[in-house]
Amino acid sequence: MNIVTAATEAAGIAKAGGLADVVSALNKEWAAKGHNIIIILPKYRYLDCPEGNFQPTDITLIVPMGKWTEFAQLWQGTLPETNIPVYLIEHNVYFDRNEIYGESKEYPDNDRRFIFFSRAIMETCKALNFRPDVIHAHDFHTAFTMAFLKTHYHNEPLFNKTAGVYTIHNLAYQGKFDPINSLTYAGFDREAFYIGSWFEQFGVVNAMKVGIMFADKITTVSPTYSKEIRLDYYSEGLRDELNIRAADLIGILNGPDYGVWSPSIDHFIYKKYSAVSLEDKKINKHELLKDFGLSNQDNLDKPLFGMVTRLTEQKGIDLIIEVLEKFIANGDMRIILLGSGDHKYVSFFNYMNEKYPKDVLIRIGYDNSLSHRIFAASDYYLMPSRYEPCGLTQLYALKYGTIPIVRLTGGLADTVEEYNEERLSGTGYTFFGYKSDELEFAIKRALSIYLKEPLWNSVRMNCMNKNFTSEESAKKYIEVFNWASESK
Ligand code: ADP
Ligand code: GLC
Repeated sequence: MNIVTAATEAAGIAKAGGLADVVSALNKEWAAKGHNIIIILPKYRYLDCPEGNFQPTDITLIVPMGKWTEFAQLWQGTLPETNIPVYLIEHNVYFDRNEIYGESKEYPDNDRRFIFFSRAIMETCKALNFRPDVIHAHDFHTAFTMAFLKTHYHNEPLFNKTAGVYTIHNLAYQGKFDPINSLTYAGFDREAFYIGSWFEQFGVVNAMKVGIMFADKITTVSPTYSKEIRLDYYSEGLRDELNIRAADLIGILNGPDYGVWSPSIDHFIYKKYSAVSLEDKKINKHELLKDFGLSNQDNLDKPLFGMVTRLTEQKGIDLIIEVLEKFIANGDMRIILLGSGDHKYVSFFNYMNEKYPKDVLIRIGYDNSLSHRIFAASDYYLMPSRYEPCGLTQLYALKYGTIPIVRLTGGLADTVEEYNEERLSGTGYTFFGYKSDELEFAIKRALSIYLKEPLWNSVRMNCMNKNFTSEESAKKYIEVFNWASESK
């Protein structure tokens, strides 16, 4: 199949969260199966790979923006350590910035930046004479490609067999745009905007809704989340739209790229290990603690809880705030957190770190290599999310034999099963109600088996033996692409 991936992130090139991991993992699988794929991304100021990985082509894209046109240079390269073609769209006014989405808050011109990018994706296909069977758009940033496919490009021979598939990674980020400006950028008349139109939601243009309504098929990143978002509580105001499209909405669980996220091959960690050398996990724990300034006098064997996360309301940090100090003050556990995000959460962890410098270890910021070392070093992984479309970090934790403690929502409910001491089955500790006493109880259950054999090793082995492969996930996407193409 000819597949275009329209996204703002891909691991190895530009990453802000799990979206990047999924884009890269899926494309690697499709390439391995012989599909003809291209990934199109913006050319940001900072790339996670050497800039030399990309060369300018002689193609200048001419991108219609409402009543005027803009120009962009097309760059070409590959996804690191693969032959998968990646095209970068260079438009320095939009993308030569410090961040992908914004600095402390969203860039105010994100409507214009991402509508431009979406239109440039269509023009890239034309310039390359690439005839897609499917355009696979991820999240609201590229949602307008779904509308372009059905409108401005509908009669172009290049796209007459192209299906549009839209994947929702996180319904909370919708792209709520000023109607007059955004429709002008996208080349639609004002008449296209009225209450209930496919562009309109609560008086503004809603890019997420555009993707949901115009796509041939819609996917989201776990089966449970695909059901949850049809309920008021999880729908972020789009319940009716998601129910209207329910017959075309499918949940496909994300699969990690185990070629990157496995302790037996991970070159970021102190000592590689596997299920047969699980005792080496402890070396990772001790070395990381020492790197954080602890010494042998500091009881390095205290239970260590890890977190690698965006510090947002989504991730259930409010529950952690309510319970953490009890455990720390009692000397029951130590926590190591790598994260960045909301000021109030950063302040909380800074405060705890000042008060308990040996037991609340924090690194505020983004650090890929440290993230790997935290998964390898920690005994437990805390993820009490308020909602979680899929979540990748609990999947990484499982593979590293790090026992997840999660709230049963979205992908967490699909991937972590409560440990059963009698049957020695299950992979973690779970709770359902978004309540701190439920989290507290789950942590207590988890601590009760710490180093207690045969339970301790059995749960860790169960974790490591779980496989949620990206191969499986990539296969399901192809089924959806075929299904979407049937109507063409
Ligand atoms: P989300 O996409 O909602 O942030 P996921 O669990 O799907 O959550 O994916 C998060 C990804 O981002 C993981 O690969 C995780 O390791 C990574 N990550 C999150 N915060 C950081 C950070 N501060 N430093 C390095 N990696 C991070
Ligand atoms: C989003 C979600 C996360 C998911 C990721 C990749 O950022 O918050 O749950 O794992 O996308 O699909």
